[in-house]
Amino acid sequence: MQHGLLFCCLTLVEGDAASRPPLIQVPGITAGFSLLLGILDFLGQLPKNITKSSPKFLELYNYLCHAAPFGSPLDVDPFTVTSVLLDRPDPAPKVKQPAWKPKLFKGKPQIYFAITEHIKAVQYDKKGQPDAYMVYGTVTCKTELEGVMPDVTVNLSLPAPPLGKPLENILVHPCVQSTDTQILNNCASSAQHQTATMGPYKLRFTPPLHMITLCHYTSQVRELPIRGYYQMRGEGNKVKLLVQLKLGSKVKNHFEFCELQIPFYNRGPIQTYKTTPSVGSTVLSADRRILAWNIGQKFPTKSLEVQMNATVTFADNMATPPHSLLQEDPFCTGLNSYAQLYFRVSDYTQSGCYIDQRSIQVHPSTKHKSIITKEFTSSEYKIWNSHGDAQVVHTPPPTNEG
Ligand SMILES: *[C@@H]1O[C@H](CO)[C@@H](O)[C@H](O)[C@H]1NC(C)=O
Ligand SMILES: *[C@@H]1O[C@H](CO)[C@@H](O)[C@H](O)[C@H]1NC(C)=O
Ligand SMILES: *[C@@H]1O[C@H](CO)[C@@H](O)[C@H](O)[C@H]1NC(C)=O
Repeated sequence: MQHGLLFCCLTLVEGDAASRPPLIQVPGITAGFSLLLGILDFLGQLPKNITKSSPKFLELYNYLCHAAPFGSPLDVDPFTVTSVLLDRPDPAPKVKQPAWKPKLFKGKPQIYFAITEHIKAVQYDKKGQPDAYMVYGTVTCKTELEGVMPDVTVNLSLPAPPLGKPLENILVHPCVQSTDTQILNNCASSAQHQTATMGPYKLRFTPPLHMITLCHYTSQVRELPIRGYYQMRGEGNKVKLLVQLKLGSKVKNHFEFCELQIPFYNRGPIQTYKTTPSVGSTVLSADRRILAWNIGQKFPTKSLEVQMNATVTFADNMATPPHSLLQEDPFCTGLNSYAQLYFRVSDYTQSGCYIDQRSIQVHPSTKHKSIITKEFTSSEYKIWNSHGDAQVVHTPPPTNEG
């Protein structure tokens, strides 16, 4: 379902009606699913008043003629199909071109790599309850190179230990033809993580013309980029709180933004608040249920520490205003409360993962420009109140057997 329209696909399963293979074994499901994704991508944002005779649906017919000419999906990639629909074919190509690359690139050759890392972190400040955090990375790539099948090699590198830790769970795009055995080792069972090597992870691939996700990975970074303590106490309609944040010494101290938000669930809207942040400014959300502290671009260079004291009182009426974005969380009553950090640092990765421009090789060799960007953002970054309970996931203790 997208924009109020339901997209459906029936796959044909041949054989008698009695044989019902498990869904996972029906290849048509995967093909149908990617066809639906291709259609959604091709249609893009649709106007609300769309009808069957809308021009976009007429274009869809053309898309389907190319993507699934005889009813079976051939190449559903919207970029490839659109480039076939819009452009005249290359006059008598000298070399056979693969179907997934119907057009050749003409122009200034360049290669673009972007490493994007997200962190999910939960901090508890509780004995026996270790903080949990994990970094998720993706490398996206867009290659604008002339020639039918340019072959690109690139190294994904890490700083030497003790700073760097091997990447884990590396998944590569199907266009990657070869990788080091190191990557395969890392993908193997977690028992082998100790022996996983530090890279560089060498990837060799034949890129299509559109943007692709070259690989996904995870990284168990050694330390939290920002360590936080959130202490909140109170009675009735009034709470006092103290938040302390310390930036890791290795983290690039230049944020695009860094903001702490404290949502107050199961209470009336904030009536009054008084804050004394050591840096930045504070503000209330429009529905007066979230206290936000804008820390700004930098932590103090010497201490790398910031803190905020606040006193907050709540109105008696518990009724949530109709425009409130906050979905009540039944767990967060009384002192059960958390603060959440939102930040982004550009030209930085927490794992240290980087691409050295000198490691990019193209065959047949051409002069090209390479653009490499890095970015690190928080995706979920919670700090639970030291004085309340926190939601945790319990892993059963290991048994002695086996
Ligand atoms: C749909 O809405 C747009 C403006 O929102 C209008 O220009 C267009 O004529 C409408 N189309 C139909 C089929 O009603
Ligand atoms: C902030 O709160 C803490 C603990 O409640 C207190 O010790 C400290 O003096 C307060 N600081 C300011 C500047 O109010
Ligand atoms: C790329 O990685 C390989 C090992 O996978 C290494 O031998 C080579 O020196 C690296 N090249 C650069 C330019 O870092």
